[in-house]
Amino acid sequence: MSNNVKNSPHSESVEKKTLIISAPAREGELTVASHIIQSGGLVVFPTETVYGLGANAYDDCSVMRIFKAKGRPSDNPIIVHVAKPEDAENFAYTTPLFYKLARAFMPGPLTVILKKRINIPAPVTAGLDTVGVRCPSHETAHKLLSLCKVPVAAPSANISGRPSPTKATHVIEDMDGRVDAIIDGGECEYGIESTVVLPTGENSVKILRPGAVTADALRCVCSDVTLADGIDGSDVEKPLSPGMKYKHYAPRSPLILLDGKREDVVAFVASEMKQKSCLFICYDEDAAPFGDRALTLGGASDESSHAHRLFDCLRCADEIGEMKKIDVIYTYMPAAGEDGLSPAIYNRLIRAAGHTVMKL
Ligand code: TXA
Ligand code: MG
Repeated sequence: MSNNVKNSPHSESVEKKTLIISAPAREGELTVASHIIQSGGLVVFPTETVYGLGANAYDDCSVMRIFKAKGRPSDNPIIVHVAKPEDAENFAYTTPLFYKLARAFMPGPLTVILKKRINIPAPVTAGLDTVGVRCPSHETAHKLLSLCKVPVAAPSANISGRPSPTKATHVIEDMDGRVDAIIDGGECEYGIESTVVLPTGENSVKILRPGAVTADALRCVCSDVTLADGIDGSDVEKPLSPGMKYKHYAPRSPLILLDGKREDVVAFVASEMKQKSCLFICYDEDAAPFGDRALTLGGASDESSHAHRLFDCLRCADEIGEMKKIDVIYTYMPAAGEDGLSPAIYNRLIRAAGHTVMKL
């Protein structure tokens, strides 16, 4: 450990006392949080996608603490957050396409991969020569980033492998005692992580991770939008986004996706419930017969609600599983289409289920 770390007010200790800042965070409290980041500490903050676990992106020791707090593999790079798109100039080589995307989608749930400058330490980018840039629209995130005056490296604030946190209670469950502060910002608006895009030409991008900025929306700005291999959860030897190769989002009980007509799925789960201890992650309309064994995603046609509720349902399933034995969690096989939020929901669910699909 370097002297720098030993002398830091935020040096490694097994268990930290975590400051919880309740919603709505006041300016003074955000100033305190920004000082924690500036002096090398870790702060969890809300964004419009999921909660982020932030540290000063210029400080490699602080960034290493993120990996430790999450139990994150060191070859998975971290996105860098800025208050304004222009702030990316300080640590990345911006391009006209970056500004075109920024004008259309920032602040908001989009991350753009750019060539990095030398001042971004290697742990942030896991040794890659690129860096992901994101400018969140969440008011608290924006205020905090403005006060920090340094770019903030922040992955999702979950223990690696667990569903991303969309509520402060999720964050407290995973991160209390591991970070210096947690800012409660209520429920995250989108509930799934940002769309990650890699510019592949003057006016073209490849989607490395689908999110709330959809392929169709990107097509309004870029002439060519493609999906990276493996985005559908299939195995690729060397994914362009290293995070894609990890088992992710999995609840502790096995999750099975049921591929069939909706009424057949409901009938199958009803018959399974008679023999097994099951949970059903389902649409509001299908929930009534299952009582407290149903975890609801919202109305059947309300895709934004499915995205918003998905990680919370997976975490609720874990909570119930702690109190009583759960043999299996069922949900519908999501549509694999290219439109709207479908690719994003499909990508998260197929990985949460470890590809376990049952054809009905
Ligand atoms: O919405 C979000 O993006 C949230 C909030 C907190 O901003 N952050 C988030 O970070 O989801 P994380 O670390 O959980 O996921 C980042 C993903 C990973 O799959 C990682 O491999 C990929 O982005 N990524 C980061 N930097 C990259 C780079 N330079 N090249 C390719 N992929 C990159
Ligand atoms: Mg994550």
